[in-house]
Amino acid sequence: MENAEKRKVVFSGIQPSGNITLGNYIGALRNFTLFDDADCLYCLADLHTLTVRQNPAELRRRTASLAAIYVACGLDPDKNIIYCQSHVPAHAELAWILNCYTYMGELSRMTQFKDKSQKHADNINAGLFDYPVLMASDILLYQTDIVPVGVDQKQHVEICRDIAQRFNGIYGDVFTVPEPYIPKATAKIMSLAEPERKMSKSDPEDTYIAILDKPEDIRRKLKRAVTDSDGEIRFDPETKPGVSNLLTILSVLKKETMKETVSAMQGLGYGALKEAVSEAVIAELTPIQQRYNEIIADKDALNAMLGRNAERAYALARRTLRKVYKKVGLYQL
Ligand code: TYM
Repeated sequence: MENAEKRKVVFSGIQPSGNITLGNYIGALRNFTLFDDADCLYCLADLHTLTVRQNPAELRRRTASLAAIYVACGLDPDKNIIYCQSHVPAHAELAWILNCYTYMGELSRMTQFKDKSQKHADNINAGLFDYPVLMASDILLYQTDIVPVGVDQKQHVEICRDIAQRFNGIYGDVFTVPEPYIPKATAKIMSLAEPERKMSKSDPEDTYIAILDKPEDIRRKLKRAVTDSDGEIRFDPETKPGVSNLLTILSVLKKETMKETVSAMQGLGYGALKEAVSEAVIAELTPIQQRYNEIIADKDALNAMLGRNAERAYALARRTLRKVYKKVGLYQL
């Protein structure tokens, strides 16, 4: 703001609500490392997980584990602000204010709310309904320009933009209006069991590959991955979702174009395709798992990193929050 060449701000988050999957990695985490010239913040979205019942001990364990995964995937915690959402109270504080600028109608149109209400029909709590407002507050607190996410979060980034624009329309330019960053080819990695649906950490274990899966589990799960009966290796997500999903994973991890991957696999059987995908996934995940094991073994260092980075995040968040409080007319001392 002060100078013309303000660095871009990148913000994203992942919920520590289950095993982090290959879908999270390919659709989001891997892209977090692409923004060398920006100021990047990546949070562990622990407050969001409470919208579905969690086992408290598991949640704590998964949160630390996700922090270690971020670093193991190549995010340098001195350059990127890696922190826990609940350690920065400004997220919940701004969410309250933004609630008063968000309509029930727009929240009830969110597809994730509709899906999760069906899945957790016994616990349709107000937090589940309000989830996108907390997410908007995550993003808007840091004057974020770019939000790297998978396509399932696109609608939430859109409502965040709507809220920001509405607020700016009343009070002047308070928030930067963010753009989603969703590369088309990897926007949605599909379930191994039902390739018409996205791979999800809240589904049964055999339907996804976890970043921390052992090689033998990766091979076993991929061997069982649902394909089709025509036997031809061809990229066609409409009619061949299973095979196309495997091809997507393979081409991304081998850093090839889809054309190159398909032609390398031409004439081979599905067994060979699954074997090739297994090898590529294992080659990608093995070094990540090695780094992960070192990082998670030193809990003190991990906690110190999270503490340091929560302070850095809070210092930034406070500036926006103070401005918002002032604009809406809360009494200042
Ligand atoms: P979550 O934890 O469900 O997913 C984390 C990220 O992974 C992406 N993703 C996928 N991408 C491709 N294929 C898949 N099968 C797949 N599954 C998940 C998601 O799109 C997401 O980018 N609400 C968010 C977390 C969050 C957040 C934020 C994100 C909280 N605050 C602020 C961005 C900005 C969520 O539940 O993601």
